[in-house]
Amino acid sequence: MTLDDDSRFGRYLNTLVDKLVVAGVLRSTRWRAAFAATPRHIFVPRFFHPDPMTGELRRTTSQDADWLEVVYSDQPLATQFNGKPGDTSGIPTSSSTAPSLMVTMLELLDLHPRDTVLEIGTGTGYNAALLSAYLGDCNVTTVDVDGALTGPARERLAELDLHPTVVTADGAAGHPGRAPYDRIIATCAVRRIPTAWLEQTKAGGKILVTVETSLHGYGLALLTVDDERRVSGCILPDAASFMPMRSQADPLFRELRAVALPRKDQLLTTAIRAEDLESNEARFAVGLQLPDVAAFGMQSTEGRGLYLAHRADGSWAHLQPDQTVCIGGPTDLWRQLEGAYLAWVEAGHPAPHQLSVSFSLFQQQLVPTVRQTN
Ligand SMILES: C[S@@+](CC[C@H](N)C(=O)[O-])C[C@H]1O[C@@H](n2cnc3c(N)ncnc32)[C@H](O)[C@@H]1O
Repeated sequence: MTLDDDSRFGRYLNTLVDKLVVAGVLRSTRWRAAFAATPRHIFVPRFFHPDPMTGELRRTTSQDADWLEVVYSDQPLATQFNGKPGDTSGIPTSSSTAPSLMVTMLELLDLHPRDTVLEIGTGTGYNAALLSAYLGDCNVTTVDVDGALTGPARERLAELDLHPTVVTADGAAGHPGRAPYDRIIATCAVRRIPTAWLEQTKAGGKILVTVETSLHGYGLALLTVDDERRVSGCILPDAASFMPMRSQADPLFRELRAVALPRKDQLLTTAIRAEDLESNEARFAVGLQLPDVAAFGMQSTEGRGLYLAHRADGSWAHLQPDQTVCIGGPTDLWRQLEGAYLAWVEAGHPAPHQLSVSFSLFQQQLVPTVRQTN
């Protein structure tokens, strides 16, 4: 990086901060100061993002002319695929979140001076840097499951003379060594909330995490823990989507196909089309009712349409483009999906925050369930 770049990044950073203020997401003066003091480019020396001309993923590094411009745009920047440092395509497994979503979540955390925070999902380290700028690095702990990420993140933070506690571990266990925390923020999505997080949150403390349903619908959950370790919470209206916490991610399609039970002779017909399940609202509400399912969009030689697989009992359902459904196994996943979809339609297509979601304890995890629709 040259001196010229050094002064250029300041202009880019200030422009991004101004845009986030004008958009109404960056509201408090303290967060504004923390953002303006924290350069993003230190954390993303290389990344992948869609080329504006072709739409194809393009690898961008500090050697590219548009590097700073992209770094200081409001985009998520993929930094790792398939959990492997060398891979350049596939399933994204780490990224720097879009700045507007980061600000939204940080503002929602409602932090007070000297609060302690645990972040699940260190990634590039940028969010940990923002938290450190706001709270002081001694109050920040951040955990990532991937040592190939935490090492570089720690070094980049140190470049800014920030030394939060950076831990390599499965974030599902939190980090008991520095508990309890005033706040826990997860920048990966969960199907179920580990009770370790609850146990490591102070009375009156909060947990902010994106819930992902089996149909890949997302809702941002804010939970509060009371003196008796009871939790109350809701889904907020703010949009948020994240890659899954690896320890809860769905098995691969080929793994579930390998254990699928034989197809039943009966072929169902259905009025539901794959397009009916495209909106986040539908995916969230319907997916919440099918907690044991993994869902895959199929565009391959094996077929097209939507494939549902039970994660444990070998049941499956395949919605084909002609509206017929093949099923197999003991659980009729398609009828379950139809029931959940029709209930959501009858309720007037509620958005995630309009559902009455509660979090009940089951097998050491808090499971989000819909009580009723408004
Ligand atoms: C969207 S990225 C986080 C972005 C990050 N906060 C930043 O500022 O760059 C999601 C991260 O969650 C991490 N992750 C996934 N599963 C995890 C787990 N079980 N425990 C801890 N981290 C996990 C991934 O390795 C990935 O780095």
